[in-house]
Amino acid sequence: MMLLGLAVTLALCVTGSNAFTSPTDTTQVRRLQPFGSSLSKSEYDDLCGLLGNNTTLTLLYKSSSAGTAYGDMLACVENKPNVVIVIRNAQYAFGAFISEGIRLPAFNSTTGMMPRWHGYESDVWFFSLAGHYENATKIEIDQQSQDVLVASQIWGNPMAPCFGGLVPRYNARVVVGRDLSLGRSLSGGCWPLSTDDIRKGRQSTDANDVPEGYMGVTDENGNALLGGSRQFIADEIEIFAVK
Ligand SMILES: *[C@@H]1O[C@H](CO)[C@@H](O)[C@H](O)[C@H]1NC(C)=O
Ligand SMILES: *[C@@H]1O[C@H](CO)[C@@H](O)[C@H](O)[C@H]1NC(C)=O
Ligand SMILES: *[C@@H]1O[C@H](CO)[C@@H](O)[C@H](O)[C@H]1NC(C)=O
Ligand SMILES: *[C@@H]1O[C@H](CO)[C@@H](O)[C@H](O)[C@H]1NC(C)=O
Repeated sequence: MMLLGLAVTLALCVTGSNAFTSPTDTTQVRRLQPFGSSLSKSEYDDLCGLLGNNTTLTLLYKSSSAGTAYGDMLACVENKPNVVIVIRNAQYAFGAFISEGIRLPAFNSTTGMMPRWHGYESDVWFFSLAGHYENATKIEIDQQSQDVLVASQIWGNPMAPCFGGLVPRYNARVVVGRDLSLGRSLSGGCWPLSTDDIRKGRQSTDANDVPEGYMGVTDENGNALLGGSRQFIADEIEIFAVK
């Protein structure tokens, strides 16, 4: 019974700002660590350092507790600005900052239809927290690549095989720049529904954008594969609000 209760409690978004541990170091900038996240104290500090000092992170979504479906993730983070995605796969930890957050397409009253997907510009940069550099490192991409494509969650006929849209770039639910896609459909369609897993990712950073000192995996053209391979199923995906 207790285990069942715990499971039900965990299957919720991480909400509220009271769930923090207290900082112990008062000589430095005080940083509150998001309770329940997989980030170690040093990873948290490193990430805050990349984002700007005095930053605090609030955990919004954690795939292992809130669920791995696209809808589980959207329920926790939809339309919230200034988010950071942290992806863990084996020894690698990396992710993306997105100033505009993950915004769903809106119903179009002219066509009377829900678009299958939409795209918008956003400040976007990537980072490594573990497994690629000696220290946490920001990975910047050029301005024109800084966009986010987001698939509709409700699209098509719910009784038909294809429920929910896919972004045409890499057949995914969410694509950040050209580098990162999450919720990939390997078949290119949305059937079977088991492909609706936000942890199914693809990541590749152009060799020209990779800062010096990179020690992680590359492909044959020198592009950085931060997840250890171009395609991966992440062990954990977390999304934080940045303040
Ligand atoms: C945060 O502070 C550290 C140490 O003072 C500094 O190295 C780093 O560049 C700062 N980060 C930002 C984004 O300003
Ligand atoms: C961080 O906060 C302290 C105290 O509020 C302030 O003096 C300092 O300028 C802030 N640093 C940055 C980089 O905003
Ligand atoms: C609605 O669809 C029409 C026709 O495709 C398009 O021209 C228009 O920009 C769309 N409106 C919005 C708000 O996306
Ligand atoms: C990594 O961080 C350590 C401790 O702050 C520093 O001594 C070292 O020079 C850094 N390495 C690189 C490559 O920046």
